[in-house]
Amino acid sequence: MRAPRTPMLRSILLAGVALALATPAIAAAPGAPAKPWLNRQLSADARATALVSAMTQDEKLQLVRTWFPPFATGKPGAPTDMIPSAGEMVGVPRLGVPTLRESDASLGVANQVEQRKGDVATALPAGLATAASFDPELAYEGGVMIGSEARAKRFNVLLAGGVNLTRDPWGGRNFEYLGEDPLLAGVIDGEHIRGVQSNHIISTIKHYALNSQETGRMIADAKIGWPALHESDLLAFKIAIEKGNPGSVMCAYNLVNGDHACESHELLTNILRGDWGYKGFVMSDWGAVHSTVKAANSGLDQDSGAELDKAIYFGAPLKEALAKGEVSKARLDEMAKRVLTGIIETGLYDNPAPATTQPIDYAAHALVAQKAAEEGIVLLRNEGGLLPLAATAKTIVLIGGHADVGVLSGGGSSQVRSVGGVPIEIPLKGGPAASFSRTTWHSSSPLKAIQALMPGANVTYVDGSDPVAAAAAAKAADVAIVFVTQWRTEAEDIENLTLPDHQDALIDAVASANPKTAVVLESGGAVLMPWLQKVPAVLAAWYPGQRGGEAIANILFGKVNPSGHLPLTFPAAEAQAPRAAPVNLAAIKADDAASNAGSAGGATPAFPITYQEGADAGYRWYAAKGEKPLFPFGYGLSYTHFAYANLKVTSGTTLSISFDVTNSGDRAGADVPQVYVAADGKVARLAAFQRVTLKPGETRHVTLTAEKRVLSSWGANTRGWHLAGGHYHVALSHAAGDAALTADATLTDQYFRP
Ligand code: BGC
Repeated sequence: MRAPRTPMLRSILLAGVALALATPAIAAAPGAPAKPWLNRQLSADARATALVSAMTQDEKLQLVRTWFPPFATGKPGAPTDMIPSAGEMVGVPRLGVPTLRESDASLGVANQVEQRKGDVATALPAGLATAASFDPELAYEGGVMIGSEARAKRFNVLLAGGVNLTRDPWGGRNFEYLGEDPLLAGVIDGEHIRGVQSNHIISTIKHYALNSQETGRMIADAKIGWPALHESDLLAFKIAIEKGNPGSVMCAYNLVNGDHACESHELLTNILRGDWGYKGFVMSDWGAVHSTVKAANSGLDQDSGAELDKAIYFGAPLKEALAKGEVSKARLDEMAKRVLTGIIETGLYDNPAPATTQPIDYAAHALVAQKAAEEGIVLLRNEGGLLPLAATAKTIVLIGGHADVGVLSGGGSSQVRSVGGVPIEIPLKGGPAASFSRTTWHSSSPLKAIQALMPGANVTYVDGSDPVAAAAAAKAADVAIVFVTQWRTEAEDIENLTLPDHQDALIDAVASANPKTAVVLESGGAVLMPWLQKVPAVLAAWYPGQRGGEAIANILFGKVNPSGHLPLTFPAAEAQAPRAAPVNLAAIKADDAASNAGSAGGATPAFPITYQEGADAGYRWYAAKGEKPLFPFGYGLSYTHFAYANLKVTSGTTLSISFDVTNSGDRAGADVPQVYVAADGKVARLAAFQRVTLKPGETRHVTLTAEKRVLSSWGANTRGWHLAGGHYHVALSHAAGDAALTADATLTDQYFRP
């Protein structure tokens, strides 16, 4: 056990850090190069410190704000060569510091409302699909792919890495993120970031922290105990930072326990720097800054998209605050140094992005997107083995969801204008998202993909607008496949979990006409399924990205064996969720619209959201309340079967779990054995998992180590973890709440640092 640091000791250490920064770190040793920042043998820290000491104050100030091209173009002092995109930081060419060109986001290089005419990119499926794969390698591959496209398009910062935990099933951005479990989300996010940065560009991790709701996102004050936050959302960030080492952390719009996230000393300095030792820079979300002195002194290093704030806080006001001593020169040095550390540590400084756009192998990248969709689609139900549909079906009718032309995309800053174009685009009629979001479909037609797979069959499409006509078409077919959609976007939560536009009635009518009905759900999270008992087969395809049509077809017809597992709970009823859907929606949306228009500067009063479930987000909330969801976290069927045997656990300081997993069916497939661990009287948490691909009849011996932090509690005073010694129940499971095999272990009492 390491001795806990006292608050006094911590402040001495932090003061020491500030002092060290104020002192030029690199003495001119005999024979040392004249420009130590060029010396690749030195640490990023040392090189960044040397660069800072060679900079003028104005150059440093240049690094701590970025311009927002749509609003900045033509403004005095604005760069004249901005790429229409999310942001630009002007570099310092005389010192080799590159201009930072920033683009969204986690699902590909965004260009959602076509700021750059005709510029397309490869669209990965929703983050939820990647999380549903439970496959860190897949997350890495996706990151490599989108990062390479960003670089080829001359961007060197990708605003990726969204990892806010799903706490409410109606969250507008749930689709972008990685579900409700900190271990799964953290591991997948970290690998995704690592992949992006393998291209020597910066990835962010965002939105730090607790930006779990879109309604009133700029004025919402997330209330939660700090230990509970460490044990849940912050743990996801921490795990992802350890694995991916992102160059930058983006602080969120919302407030956390009374302070704006971008001016929270606790989040930005005590936790990120003090507890975690993070060295890169904190950039604000766009329009999330509300002050100069408080923000700078709390730990914000860079004001992003400054034109969206009420004032350019890190422009002239920061210069003034420096002159008055309200922000120290050492603090400005530190801010600049952190930006430079992100630039150097990711390899960007030594490998600048190309000056002109480079060719992209879109055909190869499409396969990455398709694989991600195929691994992420979750088979939720398959009564009587309706799926895979295989060769017996001669007449197949597809109904609804625009399945003749494409698959739905989520909306907002993460939205990619994908290769192949936009077959359907519906502008919004108002609301906070209207200025930057449209409802669009990727050009990946399930109809065409199924026709290509089933050349001998008669495969047709009806649009589903008339349930009577749809039922008649279903009756005349061997099989009916209903495509239903639920659209979500950044800046707005959905109002309930019912499928919109009478799609429940459509499914009911079709399933009543033909019992061989499958439902394909394109959604950004959970939906209610009042028709479930009538429908033998259901696939959750999320927003499946630019090759979603092909992926869905391959799963439906058995070319690919489904292997996705839910990264979030599907509740059986809205009342099971920890909070009601946001109330007073109209008023909150009006406030939000005002904030989005640039009047966020503290004028609008905060409204609280109480996260009374604390660390028990997601499946742990349902377990604690004894609620049985419609489909639990971790759930997902396959066309084969997997059996577990020989579970063994070790006791002592570390919990290691070993077992055999066998593919007991007759086709190859991938399984995700999940280990849930609970102390006496506590709800179980996912402590380890592994995706395992097996041939028919094959057995694999698997050994996993439980993530200790999910078994521990955070000490507010010790600022560290405590794993309470005693008995732990271990369940080897196919999903949360299921226990295929169980064992008990005794763990040693222990304290450890983050
Ligand atoms: C979003 C961020 C995004 C930024 C830049 C904000 O509205 O919350 O996720 O990176 O815009 O587009």
